[in-house]
Amino acid sequence: MMREVVEAVLGSRKYRAIAPALVEAIAAAELAKGRTLKEAIKATKNQLHQSAAAYQTGRMDYARWLAELTAAWPAPEMRGPLLAKLMTTHASTAERLPFLDDFYGRIFASLPPIHSILDVACGLNPLALHWMPLPGRVDYRAVDIFSDQMAFLNDFFALAGIDGRAETRNVLTDCPGEPVDLAFVLKTIPCLEQMEKDAGSRLLAQLRARHLVISFPSRSLGGQRKGMEATYAARFAELSAGWHASITRLDFPNELVFVINRE
Ligand SMILES: C[S@@+](CC[C@H](N)C(=O)[O-])C[C@H]1O[C@@H](n2cnc3c(N)ncnc32)[C@H](O)[C@@H]1O
Repeated sequence: MMREVVEAVLGSRKYRAIAPALVEAIAAAELAKGRTLKEAIKATKNQLHQSAAAYQTGRMDYARWLAELTAAWPAPEMRGPLLAKLMTTHASTAERLPFLDDFYGRIFASLPPIHSILDVACGLNPLALHWMPLPGRVDYRAVDIFSDQMAFLNDFFALAGIDGRAETRNVLTDCPGEPVDLAFVLKTIPCLEQMEKDAGSRLLAQLRARHLVISFPSRSLGGQRKGMEATYAARFAELSAGWHASITRLDFPNELVFVINRE
């Protein structure tokens, strides 16, 4: 029955680019609850919607976006406005746009010079490289579960001359473990913990980053506060209990950020 669930989910346009390994993992968990085929398909799609597809707010027309970027790139003043427009299509980056300069300015001011970055469950955040005050060339590795999005990001890296690589991976089971200066884990822990309760601690244990930037949404997708800030501050305190690191908390209008300096 597992194969039927996976085929049905990957056969729908909305989910066809998702890493099959993640679809399989969710389908297996749903079938283990004793669900029928129809129920398991529905529950798997529902889970993928909540933790990933819901953030994609419009049609992700990667071919058109790449053509627009290619046309705009020779004119440096066109780059920022176009990248910002593209970032509106993913709710996580859209929410950050009003304070993007301040966001990366304050984060990097709390860190030593960074030369390599792993962006975990990146969404369209690599497009924000344009706003990151980095000292020079940086090795940028990004992972998320949509293969079409990762292909687009690789095209973007090539166009922008960035030493970057985007990979389609389920970070719950297959997160890159190579050493890096910095790992971004932006607004991702709550999504992963919807799937598995201890996903946040398992993910953080796998990362070999000298510094971490971990963030949480402080408003829901619909804009309500609902005590999220206090809930996630408490969750971060649990996750970071016993760490030997200096931790800086930064509050932005809809995002709560922790910069973790392990040196
Ligand atoms: C709330 S968004 C955050 C995106 C980005 N980090 C940001 O803050 O702009 C959560 C992201 O996690 C990705 N995601 C969900 N489950 C994942 C998994 N198991 N492995 C990798 N990425 C996942 C989604 O596709 C989505 O892009």
